[in-house]
Amino acid sequence: QKLNNFDMVIFGATGDLAMRKLLPCLYQAHAAGLLHPQGRILGVSRSQLNTSDFLAKVEKDSKIHIKQHFTDELWQSFIQRIQYLTVDVNTPEHFQTLRQTVQSRSQTDNVIIYLSTAPKFFAPACKNLAEVGLNADNVRIVLEKPLGTDLPSSQQINADVAQYFKEEQIYRIDHYLGKESLQNVLPLRFGNVFFEPIWNKDFVKSVQITIAEQLGVEERGEFYDITGALRDMVQNHIIQMLCFVAMEQPKSLSADDVRDEKLKVVAALKPMTSADVDKNVVRAQYVAHESQKGYLQENNVPANSRTETYVAIRAEIDTPRWQGVPFYLRTGKRLAARSAEIVLNFKEQENGLFGNHANRLVISLQPDETVSAKMFVKQVGNGLNVQAAEMVLDMGKTSNERRAEAYELLLREVIDGRLSLFNRRDELEKAWEWVMPILENWANSPIAPHTYAASSWGPKAAQDLLAQDGNVWLEEQ
Ligand code: BG6
Repeated sequence: QKLNNFDMVIFGATGDLAMRKLLPCLYQAHAAGLLHPQGRILGVSRSQLNTSDFLAKVEKDSKIHIKQHFTDELWQSFIQRIQYLTVDVNTPEHFQTLRQTVQSRSQTDNVIIYLSTAPKFFAPACKNLAEVGLNADNVRIVLEKPLGTDLPSSQQINADVAQYFKEEQIYRIDHYLGKESLQNVLPLRFGNVFFEPIWNKDFVKSVQITIAEQLGVEERGEFYDITGALRDMVQNHIIQMLCFVAMEQPKSLSADDVRDEKLKVVAALKPMTSADVDKNVVRAQYVAHESQKGYLQENNVPANSRTETYVAIRAEIDTPRWQGVPFYLRTGKRLAARSAEIVLNFKEQENGLFGNHANRLVISLQPDETVSAKMFVKQVGNGLNVQAAEMVLDMGKTSNERRAEAYELLLREVIDGRLSLFNRRDELEKAWEWVMPILENWANSPIAPHTYAASSWGPKAAQDLLAQDGNVWLEEQ
């Protein structure tokens, strides 16, 4: 495999994401021999540090997040790649030094600028990068979420960046797209004959998409309270999962063909009026249960906060394939288990010889990566009675290859200049457009969020949402 040389400049290098994910994932790629030997990492931030101060911080705050293949020798060779530079995004002179540093030490023309900062710094950073020529065609820019807090702010961010960078230079990260099992939905659907013929309204009764977390908001109360589950998870990760399940077969696997089809799904999501939101969307907050705190008792959360830590939505997709099929989307913190999964509940067989059973397919992204089909098979013994059984494909056993964490895989995609696992501007803005009526309804609603006990499966209202259609969530099936 040919490895591409690179210079990766990480803005926000002292921040949480860089320490917890970006550097450990780059180490992992390094340890696996997947980084070009001359590839370099330049950490930048406002902090007045030199390279050795920065490396001391990396040693303390980042090394602990390395999950596998750690050796001192590999670590020493990894940190050789790292340099640090103080850059204040609002100080143009700092960008002169940045350019000189990138160019002086560069043996490559593959420059990656990773903006792991709050979005308010994107515009000044891009402007100052452009002034020193660090927006030339050999430069790629990676934008970390949240890309806005609503449609207008997201349009503004995209417009600001677009003044200086062309769309094909822009890599908008959604780390869910780096998950093997989500990507696997495409070959599963379009590379086999089993599923596609029944992957539609004639056979599918309903679809459920869940991202459940066991953790609460931890130390992120301040960020989370102005964000909430809808912005943090639904507008991006859940909608990306939905796109992979619901899209039509792309013309090719080129970035734009894939993204064109994803865009069509988001554009076909039935828009909701405020009355629809009242009926089809449930928001809730976790409350204390046994030894666990409630959301309102978490650090940096105002006592009267209405921010949702859970959301469940009944959505519909207006395409010939999916007309009338409910898509139930949900995510929450402090739920009973950690899982991310896609469930297709098939219609009952009518007048079946063995009774009217319904098949089900569950694609699990985490904690395990499996595809399981619920089938009906003969019960052992006399007579032809049937019982339910699961046919399970364990993706972990399909290959001995190391499975990279999502961020590592995406960082390697950026280094190689492949855009298909990154979001295009139009897709993201469409997703914001669809969630806007929900945000607006909540902002004006006199009704407080529902509550659910910490470590439960969410509020009763979310069960009622499915009960209207005669359906239940997976854990109750
Ligand atoms: C992030 C959210 O995008 O995704 C976090 O900001 C959330 O709040 C995380 O915990 C979940 O990611 P994963 O990969 O652990 O499911």
